[in-house]
Amino acid sequence: MQSPTGKSEAVCPTVAAATPTESAPAAAATTSRRDLIKLSTVAAVAAAASSWPLASAVYAAGSDQLKYGLIGCGGRGSGAAANAMRADSTNKLVAIADLWPEKIEASIKGLKEEFGGQMELPAAKQFTGLDAYKGVLENADVVILATPPHFRPAHLKAAIDAGKHVFCEKPVGVDVPGVKKVMDICKVAAEKKLNVVSGLCYRYDVAKQETIKRIHDGAVGDIVALQGMYNTGGLWMNRRQPEWADMEWQLRNWLYFTWLSGDHIVEQHIHTLDKMLWVMKDVPPTRATSNGGRTVRTDPAYGHIYDHFDTIYEWDTDRGPVRAFCQTRQWVNAAVDVSDWVFGTKGTANLMAHAITGDNAWKRKGKAANMYDVEHVELAKAIKSGKVINNGDYMCN
Ligand SMILES: NC(=O)c1ccc[n+]([C@@H]2O[C@H](COP(=O)([O-])OP(=O)(O)OC[C@H]3O[C@@H](n4cnc5c(N)ncnc54)[C@H](O)[C@@H]3O)[C@@H](O)[C@H]2O)c1
Repeated sequence: MQSPTGKSEAVCPTVAAATPTESAPAAAATTSRRDLIKLSTVAAVAAAASSWPLASAVYAAGSDQLKYGLIGCGGRGSGAAANAMRADSTNKLVAIADLWPEKIEASIKGLKEEFGGQMELPAAKQFTGLDAYKGVLENADVVILATPPHFRPAHLKAAIDAGKHVFCEKPVGVDVPGVKKVMDICKVAAEKKLNVVSGLCYRYDVAKQETIKRIHDGAVGDIVALQGMYNTGGLWMNRRQPEWADMEWQLRNWLYFTWLSGDHIVEQHIHTLDKMLWVMKDVPPTRATSNGGRTVRTDPAYGHIYDHFDTIYEWDTDRGPVRAFCQTRQWVNAAVDVSDWVFGTKGTANLMAHAITGDNAWKRKGKAANMYDVEHVELAKAIKSGKVINNGDYMCN
């Protein structure tokens, strides 16, 4: 499987590892840490992340070079910057933002070897702290939004208000008000002819496109049921340091707090749910019944999110209800299973294996292009040609 950086990876496209890792505390979080400690409440952070419209030039279709800015330069953001630079050798990375200076340093170090010639990042274009995104919006034509999802609605609004094209990582929010805000912003983006490409990467995987097209063309007959599994091991965790205030501890462990991540049903399982939605032709389910809990990963160091969810999504169709049985968990030393199945009256599709059994048996052969690269090739092409991609509907649904 492809990883966020485009390299081969065994488990999942997000951040799963077979065993949890405790990241070493950051060596030098200086300026931005002091800024953050001042922000001792969630409300203060949320308020600081609200949007400021900025004047900026929109990229003119036809000119040669796209100037990219990266907001949130952790694993995925750095990977997305690499994908964007790879997409077109004239693309340039001209501004970068993160809460912490050491994250910027690490990101630049990781990107430099392959993309040094496409990077123009003097110290003045490296921005830290909660307002760092504003610096990127002042300098770039195209912005990559890859912070924890809590910040996405505010960052997306600021980017669209400022007239920028956007690569928007999933998920787009952590709650219904946030997602509704993103729906509205995406409508504004469409009116302004600004591209919004979603980080729901499987939609850009040619192999998944072919498999799902076959399902839509009737290869498995009428769909009877679906099954979506996202069972992984544990993830990284940053052990709390004595000098960290609550806010810094939570931000450095954002996965484990619902206000920052939306919990892993939103943050990770979204890939499964998006594939189910796609198979069901983007009609949202009529109802869902879910349960979940925290039974294995109970150490308070892992915040307050659940470690497993089981959900049945139901669509009312002319032929009666169609149900998707979905499971996600993050348990160490338990079976890993990242797979999606579509059961029909004429056969069964295994989405992750790009295979169909039954009356219309089929197995895709050959390697598909890296879906993370494809996202950025499509984005750059769209901007240059004046065609507009707006993935707002499915990335919100
Ligand atoms: N599409 C995929 O396959 C895929 C894979 C991995 C992650 N993701 C998504 O990408 C996003 C980032 O995940 P990640 O794995 O890179 O996490 P990460 O922790 O490695 O990186 C997040 C970075 O954002 C920074 N940050 C936090 N708040 C910020 C703010 N307000 N302004 C600027 N920077 C801020 C953090 O310091 C960190 O460096 C998440 O939404 C995640 O769900 C998508």
